[in-house]
Amino acid sequence: MTDTTGTSVPESPFRLIYRSHSRVGPADREAALADIFREARSNNEVLGVTGALLITDHWFVQALEGEAAEVQGLYERISRDARHEHVTVIEADHVPARVFSRWAMAQVSASGQADIPLEASEGRLHTVAGEPLTREQTAVLKVMRDTIGADVV
Ligand SMILES: Cc1cc2nc3c(=O)[nH]c(=O)nc-3n(C[C@H](O)[C@H](O)[C@H](O)COP(=O)(O)O)c2cc1C
Repeated sequence: MTDTTGTSVPESPFRLIYRSHSRVGPADREAALADIFREARSNNEVLGVTGALLITDHWFVQALEGEAAEVQGLYERISRDARHEHVTVIEADHVPARVFSRWAMAQVSASGQADIPLEASEGRLHTVAGEPLTREQTAVLKVMRDTIGADVV
């Protein structure tokens, strides 16, 4: 991106949030989720993408943040994944700042916030239980939860 004088300025981050219906059966869930988080952690770090993945028995809601081209390219790839269906974009826009910048892919439960910091970037697990979420993180997580409101347990 360039400003009016033609000087290159950094692009503001892009955030895409989608919802999808899980096709993973109960018996395969644990292994499938472990695979997804392993893939997400290693690929996203290379792409400079961060985000959060909310999982319930029936739904996935994922926020992806990073450079627009990287986020959109990754979303295209994820949307073709046979482990989910009915993939629907909820929000896709430039935002002032990332809210999950510490997480290659944070794992979020449908209720509560205790496990949000479990999946950290740099290949290490962080448990910072008790650390309050920022107002921006809370707002994005609310959008994610509200989109599957009826399924929240
Ligand atoms: C709900 C869901 C979320 C996913 N999130 C990511 C992710 O954040 N990053 C990623 O690289 N792959 C993610 N994947 C896996 C990709 O769809 C894909 O399997 C993986 O990137 C490997 O792609 P490849 O086989 O083309 O290399 C996700 C899959 C699902 C079902």
